[in-house]
Amino acid sequence: MATLSHCLPSITSQHRRLFFRFKHRPIQCSAAAERQALFNRIAPVYDNLNDLFSLGNHRIWKRMAVSWSGAKEGDNVLDLCCGSGDLAFLLSEKVGPNGQVTALDFSKEQLQIAASRQRMRFKPCYKNIKWVEGNAVDLPFSDSYFDGITIGYGLRNVLDRPKTMEEMCRVLKKGSKVSVLDFNKSTHPIAISFQDWVIDNVIVPVASGYGLGSEYEYLKNSIKEYLTGDELEKIALEAGFSTAKHYEFSGGLMGNLVATR
Ligand SMILES: C[S@@+](CC[C@H](N)C(=O)[O-])C[C@H]1O[C@@H](n2cnc3c(N)ncnc32)[C@H](O)[C@@H]1O
Repeated sequence: MATLSHCLPSITSQHRRLFFRFKHRPIQCSAAAERQALFNRIAPVYDNLNDLFSLGNHRIWKRMAVSWSGAKEGDNVLDLCCGSGDLAFLLSEKVGPNGQVTALDFSKEQLQIAASRQRMRFKPCYKNIKWVEGNAVDLPFSDSYFDGITIGYGLRNVLDRPKTMEEMCRVLKKGSKVSVLDFNKSTHPIAISFQDWVIDNVIVPVASGYGLGSEYEYLKNSIKEYLTGDELEKIALEAGFSTAKHYEFSGGLMGNLVATR
């Protein structure tokens, strides 16, 4: 097993690019603070583990999610729960140097890694990403501000999903779309058993090698407590979206909700 230091991007103070913080809206709920701490802890190995666990497929799923968001040249778009920035970078390629990408997360560590990755990329479009430290349930943006939103593996992790959905609807322009990529909460017993087996026998043991076994044990419950495709469509419509459709792919392991304001 490679040691942690081999896998870590080197983050020096020089790399600690500034990002926007909304200090007037601190995380107050202890459950949210715990979750925030969890994502701070896994941040250094998050990208490497994603590649390992998905055998690189998460890159394809993220491209699909960006495509479903309808983002196009010149758009002003948001990547919510951006983590280390994979979806934000893809969005930035879509909207180009004349567009604007805002990427929001409540984990300072994830944002520092995202900003450091941005510094290592040289295409002009990547300059258009602005990193924002903030809370998905209380977005610091005005109404009808964005032309599209992506949220990858984020909605499952926020404590108040209906409120997050309402916030996404509020900040989207009429006719624009949100694309919500995540694990699919299957209703098929075989798919559920397979997902559980992979988490117990592959993901948790590998993460334990990085000292993060308990952090990744959380994954199984988070999928169980997540919403099925039908439930996702329902909360999107209740939040004010005019249409909502959930797609399953990769043998039902993954899902993507597309909702239009
Ligand atoms: C599993 S990671 C996904 C990161 C990235 N979107 C990706 O697909 O690789 C989930 C992210 O959601 C963020 N997150 C969870 N709850 C949040 C909240 N209430 N507000 C902002 N970010 C949140 C975490 O900090 C974490 O970076």
